[in-house]
Amino acid sequence: MTKLRAALLGSTGAVGQRYLAMLSRHPTIELDILMGGDSAGRAYGEAAHWLSSEDIPERFADRKILATDPHNAQGCDVVFSALPAEAASTVEPEFAKAGLTVISEASAHRLEEDVPLMIPEVNPDHLGLLGSQRKRRGWSGSLVTTPNCTVTGLAMVLKPLSDSFVLRRAIVTTMQAVSGAGFPGVPSLLITENVIPYIRGEEEKVADESRKILGAREEGRVRSADLQIAISCNRVPVIDGHVETLYAELGRDLEPEDAVDCLNRFRGEPQELGLPSAPGQPVIVRPEPDRPQPRLDRLSGSVPGMSVVVGRVRKGLSRDSIQLTLVSHNTIRGAAGTAVLTAELMHSKGQLGR
Ligand SMILES: NC(=O)c1ccc[n+]([C@@H]2O[C@H](COP(=O)([O-])OP(=O)(O)OC[C@H]3O[C@@H](n4cnc5c(N)ncnc54)[C@H](OP(=O)(O)O)[C@@H]3O)[C@@H](O)[C@H]2O)c1
Repeated sequence: MTKLRAALLGSTGAVGQRYLAMLSRHPTIELDILMGGDSAGRAYGEAAHWLSSEDIPERFADRKILATDPHNAQGCDVVFSALPAEAASTVEPEFAKAGLTVISEASAHRLEEDVPLMIPEVNPDHLGLLGSQRKRRGWSGSLVTTPNCTVTGLAMVLKPLSDSFVLRRAIVTTMQAVSGAGFPGVPSLLITENVIPYIRGEEEKVADESRKILGAREEGRVRSADLQIAISCNRVPVIDGHVETLYAELGRDLEPEDAVDCLNRFRGEPQELGLPSAPGQPVIVRPEPDRPQPRLDRLSGSVPGMSVVVGRVRKGLSRDSIQLTLVSHNTIRGAAGTAVLTAELMHSKGQLGR
């Protein structure tokens, strides 16, 4: 398989930095072009507020950041976008119109009916929307999105449950890491020694995006899943790794062990195809009563940060319900990792590259 040449929009941000780490040694994707906003024209190492304890990959430290312009990505097989939603709303369609395939982290286009909202293990068939997207919009390129960081871990747990049972209702409470707000993010005086019980727009995103991802593809659109979700989102003083508690009503009687078995057995196309960023086990269930914890579990699995870790699986109030807790790495599985895995899936299906 030939290597894909990639560009990255929003390269200096919290998510952009994860791309650099994930792609610095990637076997089939060569990250070549870094773009930015205010930082354009500067060397990456000078412009980025590097957040990881690992150094900036050497090959990118002196790389000049280019202006965010489709001309600067000509010849690239894929453009990853880690732009804020406002910039993404106009910039990403310009890139797609210019013939480029954009895979975006931003919320701006996620719910448009001809735009796939992808988690490769959950809804690989939604990539089938791209034919009608190109036709309808007259684009030679295309636009694919990945979900909000809170949705990804949740949908990866809901998918196997909805395949094995009849998922009717979910009640979710989140404890979300500060890196989910990007850089510089939440002021330290607000979050230190505190919990903030509101994240603007987040609860609506989690419900709408989860229903779309779990929905069925029809002619040129996705029919959202018929699922009631009640959700409360909280920001907590954790750096990386979102924690979510889930109460799910599953339409028929079950024991917690049935849910554990179903989650542990879950595999998707990325595992079948052996894609480089696919974790061997997308959902890992831990038996200890005090796991999962973000600090201990966010990098679990064969590809660090790409598995969702579940624990505390127990009975709910009725015989058809269960409760559990999950941890998912918000900037890896919740952002750059899912986008890279989507590119790998598209590449393996001949939808990317020459
Ligand atoms: N953080 C997470 O856990 C997470 C998870 C899933 C999805 N997301 C989404 O991913 C996107 C990026 O998030 P983030 O946390 O990395 O944000 P961030 O830390 O604020 O970074 C934003 C990046 O976008 C660039 N940028 C800003 N305005 C621009 C413009 N007008 N034109 C071109 N570039 C511009 C910035 O470059 P300069 O510094 O050069 O201006 C910076 O590189 C957002 O849409 C966010 O909602 C984030």
